[in-house]
Amino acid sequence: MKGSISRLLGASAALTVLASLGVLVSLQPGRAQDNDNNDNNDNSETQSKIKIGFQAAPVPLNLTGKNRSLVGLGSYLVNAAGDCNGCHSAGPPTEYAAGGNPYFGQHPEMVNQTTYLGGGRSFMSLIPGSAEIISRNLTPDKTGRPEGGATFAEFVDAMRTGVDRDKWHLACTGAPNAHCIPPPFDGSLLQVMPWPVYSHMTDRDLRAIYEYLSAIPCLEGDPGNPAGSNTNGHRCK
Ligand code: HEC
Repeated sequence: MKGSISRLLGASAALTVLASLGVLVSLQPGRAQDNDNNDNNDNSETQSKIKIGFQAAPVPLNLTGKNRSLVGLGSYLVNAAGDCNGCHSAGPPTEYAAGGNPYFGQHPEMVNQTTYLGGGRSFMSLIPGSAEIISRNLTPDKTGRPEGGATFAEFVDAMRTGVDRDKWHLACTGAPNAHCIPPPFDGSLLQVMPWPVYSHMTDRDLRAIYEYLSAIPCLEGDPGNPAGSNTNGHRCK
């Protein structure tokens, strides 16, 4: 995990430096203004990340109506740097498909498409008797928006501040129970999820991750919801 996080930081630091260079270039007379959604102004390092991103994506992508460069860059951040699926799949035994588990010494690696970013991995309770921490389903729903229909603003909020819009656990006001987490943790915030690290990413990186997460296939289920699935198998259709 440490390794992936420092690689992620390295990647975003590099992008930040390159973005500032881009700004300098755009101040030159006659140069086009840099623009988040412009496909043509990516420098060669970003281009190679986009290419690697498409190679590293373990599922078919729906590019209809999407910004291709952002999807590729988002895939790079999710699959080559951020290791979102390491936590947002159902757990280590099923993260890879049969015959393709690198931790078993099997190559080439084959990510299990039936659990990819579908959530459900348990991180146990932080304090005995309090809410169990379970990773969430990040795949899009029938609206086509990722993380079960989250808007970009809601997604950025979660990534930058750890706010849990689903309120699947709260701060305990009395004795710990299955739906709250007692101090010193702030149970209203996402726990385990590395949002304190991801909060340093650029807006463009977060936009790219959001764009990628809207291009992956939907998986049914609503793991982490203490009330059980609130989609009743109708998340995708
Ligand atoms: C170390 C494990 C871990 C990693 C790595 C991780 N997450 Fe999470 N994430 C979690 C857990 C656990 C939760 C639920 C936390 C809770 O219930 O308190 C969560 C919650 C979230 C949420 C809130 C979902 C909702 O429905 O409210 C988003 C969004 C999210 N993660 C996105 C990401 C993205 C994008 C990445 C990769 C860049 C990522 N996560 C990587 C563990 C992780």
